Amino acid sequence: MLRPEIQEYGKDILESEIFKKALKTPHHLGTTTIGSHSLSVAERCLRVADKYPGLKLDRRMMVRAALCHDLGLTDRPHCNTMGVLAFSHPVYSVILAKEFNLNLTKEEERMISRHMFPLSRIPDTMENWVLVYSDKYCADREIITLFRRKKPAAATY
Ligand SMILES: [Fe+2]
Repeated sequence: MLRPEIQEYGKDILESEIFKKALKTPHHLGTTTIGSHSLSVAERCLRVADKYPGLKLDRRMMVRAALCHDLGLTDRPHCNTMGVLAFSHPVYSVILAKEFNLNLTKEEERMISRHMFPLSRIPDTMENWVLVYSDKYCADREIITLFRRKKPAAATY
């Protein structure tokens, strides 16, 4: 169930054609889609904010950056090589967000362009660090499902 907060802060993004496409585009070896992963990252950012209220994190900024951070992997005319994509997709995410008039703030664009640290430049706000952590946390959780043993078949008598 999607938090009302994500729906509120990300309404225009969630309703955009590029995000709808992201919901159908496989991600992390087919364990999820770019859209679902982005929603998980937004949720993880908010959980961090809930757990550490003293950090006074900007929740809206984190949600919007999380929803857009991997859009650059949705439409890939610029490059199809994963190694290069790891470096280039943050910039392309920002470009696509502009093309689809998602009206990100400069801070949100900056967070997206730095979310691949250490492959990108070092984050310079706490919100950006939370995005980097949340992205890696969710990616690990998604990819690890590939290695889970199948549940044993139910016994039949
Ligand atoms: Fe991601």
